[in-house]
Amino acid sequence: MRISHVKNASVREKADCLVIPYWKDEKTIPAIEQKELPLFLKEIALDDFKGESEESMWIYPAGEKEKRFLLLGLGKRNNTSLENLRRCFSAAIKKAQEVGGKRVNILLPVKHKIKDNLFLRSILEGVFLANYAFNRWKCESLKKRSFSLVEEVVFIGADRKLLQKESSEISAIADGVYLARDLVNENADIVTPQKLAEVAKSLQNRKIKVDIFDKRSIEKEGMGLLLAVNKGSNKDPVFAIASYKGKPSSKEHIVLVGKGITFDSGGLNLKPTGGIETMKSDMAGAASVLATIQVISKLNLKINVTGVIAATENSIGPNSYKPGDVFKSYSDKTVEVVNTDAEGRLILADALAYVVDKLTPTLIIDIATLTGGVIIALGEEVAGFLANDEKLADRLQKASDATGESIWRLPLYSRYKEMLKSDIADLKNSGGKRSASAIMGALFLQEFVNDIPWAHIDIGGASFFSIPTGYYTTHATGFGVRLFIELLKAHE
Ligand code: BES
Ligand code: ZN
Ligand code: ZN
Repeated sequence: MRISHVKNASVREKADCLVIPYWKDEKTIPAIEQKELPLFLKEIALDDFKGESEESMWIYPAGEKEKRFLLLGLGKRNNTSLENLRRCFSAAIKKAQEVGGKRVNILLPVKHKIKDNLFLRSILEGVFLANYAFNRWKCESLKKRSFSLVEEVVFIGADRKLLQKESSEISAIADGVYLARDLVNENADIVTPQKLAEVAKSLQNRKIKVDIFDKRSIEKEGMGLLLAVNKGSNKDPVFAIASYKGKPSSKEHIVLVGKGITFDSGGLNLKPTGGIETMKSDMAGAASVLATIQVISKLNLKINVTGVIAATENSIGPNSYKPGDVFKSYSDKTVEVVNTDAEGRLILADALAYVVDKLTPTLIIDIATLTGGVIIALGEEVAGFLANDEKLADRLQKASDATGESIWRLPLYSRYKEMLKSDIADLKNSGGKRSASAIMGALFLQEFVNDIPWAHIDIGGASFFSIPTGYYTTHATGFGVRLFIELLKAHE
């Protein structure tokens, strides 16, 4: 999407629509200072349009540069927020898409208490994040039926320099979000562990070193849990490391670890109808880790970050690993697999233990579609997180507040560890009960990170929306990319 600006409304060019923002209760005047607007727009006294947040209304003026005007409600000026701005402008973009609007003029609202750069940034975020579709499996006629992605946005009244700076950064971040969404939305037989390895490999550049471990190297390393989960699959597992060095002089080293189950059938503990249909999304953690590394490199962040993914299908077949069997992890701890559907924690355990052993991390964050329980606890829009370090928890929460990627902390309640004790192994992979499942998953992972500051983000719900909400469109959200980038920028 191209982003440009003009000074004021009188010099704007032809477009498919003009977005005119209004604050609630101030709707007799648009939220702008443009004398050039048609008189009638300054006097919308009718109650048809109230200026509520995300409200919109088409009107069809004669003799204007645009075919249509979109009145866009922003809600009350005094209690507006960055997230409100994102959502309002994403609503406008979705409206423009519905009528096939490829070129959109947007009038910028007048000032209020939010800082200029953050204000513009949030509007741009709303615009970019909503301008996504996954329709490569639709026929041409359905694809084109009135819907079109927006190709160009002209901001009327924007500061040129600020717009350039913010839009180039947001565009790089949005590309990362789109990449993560594409990988999640695409068929499981296309986005295989090998495909994820290819994506990791493609990140390689002057600053990023990529190591791909194939099945043989995974065997050599002794990642017995990743291999166990892989047993039922006709595709080899992959373990990939992408190391970005943006500050070679620093010892600080943040490692992001992503769960890459390219399809989770549940294994022999087969998932039922109603639980299995969305399981191509079980590699969303890996997707957001890879996308984050891509964005970090584009933004040239001065920081050392490594992305690690463990990837395999969790399939069902004669070779599948079996409930009751015991396997040895990379850390040498043995695990009794009581449920083959609790496979994410197994592959992550090997990944985390490897990271601790070999990569000298100063901080580890893993991101995973680990449990369905987190959806029961927090719904689809809020991810759960657990951390063994207060400072890290604080930083994550701040990054969440700034980006609108909502997270909520759950306790690493150590008494529940009792439920992970096994009669025949060092540990079992599930407590066997449905209660506290997001906490149980994290307690299991904690056994493999020693005392390194660590956080676990459970995106069981947040990675994939059944209903398009806010600036999310088809299914995959790309959750995690913006959260990580915000956190890492604050670390620079
Ligand atoms: N991938 C699932 C978790 C999941 C479920 C994510 C629904 C998104 C939507 C995970 O591997 C899983 O099956 N977890 C089990 C754990 C249980 C067997 C201990 C769960 O949450 O039921
Ligand atoms: Zn599972
Ligand atoms: Zn899973």
